[in-house]
Amino acid sequence: MKESTKTVLRASAVLAVAFGLCVTGLTAADAKSNAIKDAMGKYHKAPKGTDPTCKKAGAGQASKEELSGMVAAYKAMCAAKPPQGDQAKWVKLCTELINATAALEKGDAGAADKYKAAVNCKACHEEFRPAAKK
Ligand code: HEC
Repeated sequence: MKESTKTVLRASAVLAVAFGLCVTGLTAADAKSNAIKDAMGKYHKAPKGTDPTCKKAGAGQASKEELSGMVAAYKAMCAAKPPQGDQAKWVKLCTELINATAALEKGDAGAADKYKAAVNCKACHEEFRPAAKK
């Protein structure tokens, strides 16, 4: 009995270590692929001299492909956890953004204004984006 108890103990120790590694691995992957930063970098930011997709969208000039890419990116962002702020409010803001972008994609009247209201950088950053580290 003694020997088998040891085996069980050893097996659970191995499992615990394996589980620990798994969790650490996941956290590291999360830090690397950040859906929020991806959406910001891809659609809210643009190289100097070119308009970011969000600006084109607000002007009603984004292509269907750009808009559907944005909807997907916003959905991923919505499912992610912002670095700070209230999760329920985050989901609400992101959902407004998704709905407005989807309306643009459909060509709804007034969608551009709805989008411009939803993509309020400052309002969202104030609550959900950590202050810049110096
Ligand atoms: C619905 C909320 C929301 C809106 C709207 C929003 N942002 Fe952000 N943005 C965030 C959050 C949250 C972060 C911080 C992400 C992090 O640090 O993990 C961020 C970060 C960024 C970053 C830094 C990305 C990086 O790689 O660190 C840029 C650039 C940015 N936003 C640009 C914009 C611009 C420009 C607009 C307006 C056109 C905008 N964002 C609108 C939520 C938002």
